[in-house]
Amino acid sequence: MPIRPRQRDRNESNPAFGARRLKLGTFQTNLDSGCVMSDLDGRLDITWPNTVALAKLADEMEFEALVPVARWTGFGGATNPQGPGFETYTWAAGIAGATTNAGVISTSHVALTHPIVAAKQSAAIDHISGGRYTLNIVNGWNYPEMEMFGVSLLGHADRYACAEEWLAIVKRLWTEDETFDHEGRFYKIKKGYLAPKPIQHPYPAIMNAGSSERGRHFACKHCDLVFTSIRTFDIDTNKAHVQAYRRLAREEYGREVRIWSNANIVQAETEQEARAFYNYYVNEKGDWAAANHVIETMAAEINERDYPPERRRAMAEMFVQGWGGFPLVGTKEQIVDGLKRLSSVGYDGLLLSFPRYEQGLREFRDVTYPLVVQAGLRDLV
Ligand SMILES: Cc1cc2nc3c(=O)[nH]c(=O)nc-3n(C[C@H](O)[C@H](O)[C@H](O)COP(=O)(O)O)c2cc1C
Repeated sequence: MPIRPRQRDRNESNPAFGARRLKLGTFQTNLDSGCVMSDLDGRLDITWPNTVALAKLADEMEFEALVPVARWTGFGGATNPQGPGFETYTWAAGIAGATTNAGVISTSHVALTHPIVAAKQSAAIDHISGGRYTLNIVNGWNYPEMEMFGVSLLGHADRYACAEEWLAIVKRLWTEDETFDHEGRFYKIKKGYLAPKPIQHPYPAIMNAGSSERGRHFACKHCDLVFTSIRTFDIDTNKAHVQAYRRLAREEYGREVRIWSNANIVQAETEQEARAFYNYYVNEKGDWAAANHVIETMAAEINERDYPPERRRAMAEMFVQGWGGFPLVGTKEQIVDGLKRLSSVGYDGLLLSFPRYEQGLREFRDVTYPLVVQAGLRDLV
């Protein structure tokens, strides 16, 4: 497929394809409270200036992925975390305009955005950002937000069948010059047309965070960036998990994928202070009702996930402390050691969150990031 005038090889324009040993990003900076579920003072208060301030800090450090979460309603409890927030395509367009280096992502619910609209909006953001854009595809699991639209969440297998058809249409629109008709199970398109094409050639990066077996196959077959949560402190188990993704992509689909995860940083002068602060915002101020609401929704039969009751307390804590991000708690040296360990596990990138997002990211830039660089984690490899 020849590069058209105005297009660029995405390996050159999109930092998500960059060569740094450990790529970095932010997560959920488009939503109120950021990644915590806690009545903590200083947590993200979602205004446009506040979300831009975070993007600019990340941009200074040339973070490769600013990932918003597609959320339409909050999780109740005392603080209604993730309730107020910015829609992710419009957020990404604004953030693309406010930054110059960082990778910018929009997160799209397949069932809520028609593929032509998704392809068109994505192309616009790719132009605004000069080819720094990645599309994150999510199938949805939070059925109350689907009900808000009068849309029923499809059964798990059908969600992925629909996503495959959706993404195939999006890719055709991005790459084909001739108009095309499409008659599928979920979509019907007459004379599909899209111009201008995205900046990135052959098309923008695609990200997915499915965690089921079906989701792993979808991501390895069709996507460039695979997102997976870290569920254990055991290094060998994590290594095996990452290697299994790479093997699946290589052996079944002849592809290479970049594997990302997320970590939540709680840093202080001493380890004891960091642990005390963790205890304060999680155990004293945590919004456990909201976290339990998340688990009940995820555990609904339609999501086909098995959450044994004895695991639920630990799961709720993971959501309260940082929306499932791997907790890194300690001094700046301990944080850098933690990042080194996760890099050695084989992750290409990590989205970072902080309980007090802006204060934390600022401190990370001033105090921790120089050590991250010194440790070689940002070297080109
Ligand atoms: C890093 C990350 C980001 C995600 N972002 C969203 C999101 O913005 N909106 C959403 O509805 N689900 C989101 N999810 C959930 C996944 O898309 C997916 O539904 C979940 O991992 C269940 O996987 P499965 O569909 O394979 O069962 C995210 C998951 C992860 C790990």
